Amino acid sequence: MFVSLILLWLCIWFIIIQLKSRRPKNFPPGPTALPILGNILQLSLENPLKDFERLRKTYGSVYTLFLGPKPAVIISGTKAIKEAMVTRATEFAGRPQDLFVNDVTQRKGVILADYGPSWKEHRRFALMTLRNFGLGKNTMEERIHGELQYTMNTLEQSIGKKPLSPQMMFHNMASNIICQVLFGRRYEYDHEFIRVIVQCFTENAKLTNGPWAMLYDSFPIIRNLPLPFMKAFKNVETCQKLAVSVLTEHKKTRVPGEPRDFLDCYLDELDKSINGSSFSEQQLTMYALDIHFAGTDTTSNTLLTGFLYLMAYPHIQERCQQEIDEVLGGKHQASFDDRHNMPYMQAVIHEVQRVANTVPLSVFHSTTKDTELMGYSIPKGTLIIPNLTSVLNEEGQWKFPHEFNPENFLNDQGEFVKPEAFMPFSAGPRMCLGEGLARMELFLVMVTLLRRFKFIWPEDAGEPDFTPVYGVTLTPKPYSMKIQLRETQQDGRQTHNRDSGE
Ligand code: HEM
Repeated sequence: MFVSLILLWLCIWFIIIQLKSRRPKNFPPGPTALPILGNILQLSLENPLKDFERLRKTYGSVYTLFLGPKPAVIISGTKAIKEAMVTRATEFAGRPQDLFVNDVTQRKGVILADYGPSWKEHRRFALMTLRNFGLGKNTMEERIHGELQYTMNTLEQSIGKKPLSPQMMFHNMASNIICQVLFGRRYEYDHEFIRVIVQCFTENAKLTNGPWAMLYDSFPIIRNLPLPFMKAFKNVETCQKLAVSVLTEHKKTRVPGEPRDFLDCYLDELDKSINGSSFSEQQLTMYALDIHFAGTDTTSNTLLTGFLYLMAYPHIQERCQQEIDEVLGGKHQASFDDRHNMPYMQAVIHEVQRVANTVPLSVFHSTTKDTELMGYSIPKGTLIIPNLTSVLNEEGQWKFPHEFNPENFLNDQGEFVKPEAFMPFSAGPRMCLGEGLARMELFLVMVTLLRRFKFIWPEDAGEPDFTPVYGVTLTPKPYSMKIQLRETQQDGRQTHNRDSGE
């Protein structure tokens, strides 16, 4: 009897040891992981950002968490993130290939492509095409201003009516700007294409980092069950159908060698492509959707955060408007070059990006070979989570890490300065490829709208709530704004003094 009990106990112990998540030699430290579950019970599945910060205080800037049986290394703080993304660049430039997001996007596109020739060729193509279609030239500025006319009409129409909810407006605007590059056209805000695509994008931005995605990643056994994560697959299917219809229409109307937009350029590339090329029609729709998604949800959520803070801090809004009026004078419209004469506006936009923390955990990376980080050994293929949040509010890096204060980007002479911890676009070879476009959009949109309108927090809306809704992108909670036309109109447009609600 006694021997049987000992044997039983040994068996159970052996099974526990086998199931216990294994920690490679000299691996970064972390909390003890349970068999099968790993550390999942130590994280809020709704929003793990606070847990990541708490664990960092205990285990340091490089630590390990087990998501189910799979280890993930969380990197926090400017020093460690720079060492990984910039100094060791290519060693940390991979993307994991066995996560929910990979299945949802069918392992196509550029954002989640693993480090290798296909990613390189598609990244280079996207950067080149963005440049050819006007980034760095006036054409992109004109497109942004063109789209802004529709936004301004929407805002003007809300004057004298009940406060406006800007969520869809900014999403539609950002989506249309990237649509013009990708598909050579914009869509009316009530057009089915933009309505459905924006809806699917916003839903998937929440689903792909949400609790169900974390369960999907941790427990492969549940992957085929009809659980809420299935909605993300459905959304991608819907978007793909829309993208295929645009592609079919492009194939009918294109003139080879005379590209009108991104799709035409890719089709030209396909005509030229030889055996072994990574370009293919199957890649194209997901690739275009990837860039459309990346260019919509990020910029629009940053703008939403910006206007929320500018309403909550009216003196900052007024100081921006003063600088805009002084610098633009009677000029018809702002150009991106005007930023060099607007240190305060630049500081405000950067501060908005810092507090917006739009992509809080970046896009997950993986190691491309056995490597080291801050003295720890990290094997090839390890999941890496760069905690950008920890950099954007890192004590010691910012004058005011925990408040909204443009002084974070101004020196004693009032000049604009960019601290090295400003990394909302991440860093290194995988750094956001739309940074140039995003910065141009943020500047032109904020300057143009602040020049023409005053944005007011409605008196009956209670206190502004700055707590964001968690997802791949952080989104401010829905809010409304009251619009007033400014009296000091210098841009030749009609001058009014009407107030919404008056
Ligand atoms: C405020 C706006 C934006 C922010 C904060 C932002 C942020 C980011 C971040 C943090 C990453 C992950 C980088 C990494 O993995 O290390 C990323 C990747 C990416 N972004 Fe953006 N982004 C913005 C706008 C845009 C726009 C407008 C586009 C479209 C042209 C775009 C296209 C992409 C693409 C394609 C990638 C994947 C790059 C790769 O894997 O090589 N982003 N972005």
